[in-house]
Amino acid sequence: MIPAPLIEALRQARHMVVFTGAGVSAESGIPTFRDSLTGLWARFDATSLATPEAFQADPALVWGWYEWRRMKVLQAQPNAAHLAITELARQVPRLTLVSQNVDDLHERAGSTEVVHLHGSLHQPRCCKCGESPKQPLDMPNEPEGGRRLQPPSCTICSGLLRPGVVWFGENLPAAALSAALQAAETCDLLISVGTSGMVYPAAEIPGLAWRAGAVIVHVNPLPHRQHREREYTLAGPAGEQLPALVAQAFGDR
Ligand code: OAD
Repeated sequence: MIPAPLIEALRQARHMVVFTGAGVSAESGIPTFRDSLTGLWARFDATSLATPEAFQADPALVWGWYEWRRMKVLQAQPNAAHLAITELARQVPRLTLVSQNVDDLHERAGSTEVVHLHGSLHQPRCCKCGESPKQPLDMPNEPEGGRRLQPPSCTICSGLLRPGVVWFGENLPAAALSAALQAAETCDLLISVGTSGMVYPAAEIPGLAWRAGAVIVHVNPLPHRQHREREYTLAGPAGEQLPALVAQAFGDR
């Protein structure tokens, strides 16, 4: 059951933020990070794969692992949750989509101007000069978990290419962070989809929107820890909950 005041808030919203984490891509077959059995950080060591120090110590190990992840994403398809978000954008006057995900499933579902807080698997850049290659990388073909693979060299300065993602200990891209914070402070409704809310500063975004007066909705199979006024949880997979929310709020239009 979706509460009637939430449906009304969706219909009234002028500026909506949709804030997504790994759970929005789970039904596309992309593993989350912190699921206790299948999450990436249950199977791989984050400090030896997702830090600048790890890349410095063993670039081929890190590059091979990210190429494996890029392959998994390229083999996946957007799911009903990604599609419901594109439909929401058609229904509300303004929607800002802010994602922590490094996949491109929102874009492939039809979302535009996605604010990527943690970068992208598809935009590597040079460690030395910071430029991204003009041509897309070849289709990766990496076995389960990846293997050591030497990163390509930059065609401009011959530095090593690195994955275009934010690693632990690195700053978020300033423009994306500022766009996300500004949207959170000015929206009237924020839907947080499939995130554990454990990685900062991204995790501050729903709270920031709530303090600025927005209605907040969490979409997650796990119950949310805290509920305040103007805060709702739709407990269940995003691929079921989001289409139901869109249908109930806007199905009669
Ligand atoms: P997590 O793996 O921490 O959390 C995924 C969330 O998705 C959990 O709360 C799950 O309960 C939920 N979930 C699982 N299946 C779902 C489904 N079908 N529908 C909806 N929700 C579902 O992933 P994030 O919160 O995205 O950072 O992790 C945040 C950051 O930590 C990532 O961006 C990454 C990681 O280290 C960097 O790479 C910098």
